[in-house]
Amino acid sequence: MSLIHAFLFLIFGTLASLAMSRTIYEASVVDKHEQWMVDYGRKYESKLEKEKRLNIFKENLEYIESFNNGGNRSFKLSLNEFADMTQDEFIAAHTGYKMQDNPIMPESTSFRYENVSDVPTNFDWRDQGAVTPIKNQGQCGCCWAFSAVAAVEGIIQIKTGKLISLSEQQLLDCSTNGGNQGCSGGWMMNAFEYISQNQGITTEESYPYQQTQETYDTQINKVATINGYQMVPENDEEALLKAVTNQPVLVALDGYGQSFQFYKGGVFTGDCSNDLTHAVTIVGYGTSEEGLNYWLIKNS
Ligand SMILES: *[C@@H]1O[C@H](CO)[C@@H](O)[C@H](O)[C@H]1NC(C)=O
Ligand SMILES: *[C@@H]1O[C@H](CO)[C@@H](O)[C@H](O)[C@H]1NC(C)=O
Repeated sequence: MSLIHAFLFLIFGTLASLAMSRTIYEASVVDKHEQWMVDYGRKYESKLEKEKRLNIFKENLEYIESFNNGGNRSFKLSLNEFADMTQDEFIAAHTGYKMQDNPIMPESTSFRYENVSDVPTNFDWRDQGAVTPIKNQGQCGCCWAFSAVAAVEGIIQIKTGKLISLSEQQLLDCSTNGGNQGCSGGWMMNAFEYISQNQGITTEESYPYQQTQETYDTQINKVATINGYQMVPENDEEALLKAVTNQPVLVALDGYGQSFQFYKGGVFTGDCSNDLTHAVTIVGYGTSEEGLNYWLIKNS
């Protein structure tokens, strides 16, 4: 008889402490969410919205913690400003790569760097002064403008020795050619085509970023231009390497997934598909201490 009692007691005891730790856990998630709201200045319009965001936050938090505790990862995740967003919301608000349906491809001339043979083992355009500080596209799907501008800033510095921060807003407002849709996405080739046709782009300072598409400002002074652009041969990392040692190169990647959304540092080896959603600029490459080859990417 006393054995059964003890048994029951044990079971009750276990249930009680499970319920208890569950409550403590929920409370700690609420606290973490509150703290995160303070850290990132987030406010919600209603209790309902807050409840919804808390649930998304909790799911993301659990993913991040289990990922970071998973061991032997070449990169880490962290609770960043996107912690209360779903993956779909993140993609909609913070990427913006849209390839044109029937794009007019640049004339297929031979690959400019095909004969490059002297490729160093690592390279970083920041060391050459060809990369402006990181810029933030905010809540506007115009990665296409940011990545195009970073590539142009790079080639201008390489050709002239002057690093000038250029205007994404000009592209957002004016490069509506080829089906570019401002904050709803665009294609970088169209941005290059616009700069080339317009024979110029102005500075960030004189045409600053607004996070929304506005009326085309015609009173701009052009400070830099490009006279051509071309595609690096497809699926050819050797060719990409040759190109990157000569100038920053624009690429599109798959930005879908929590591991990308919460990337903090290290060599990203997350799940990637060929479903391209986000445009960025390659500004170098190298090999990590663990022996992983990586591309160094400027992201907006
Ligand atoms: C950790 O990952 C690296 C690179 O993927 C691999 O070479 C190494 O063997 C792994 N180490 C362990 C202990 O699993
Ligand atoms: C690369 O070298 C070949 C052979 O010399 C030459 O025909 C070709 O024009 C060169 N390509 C470029 C882009 O200079």
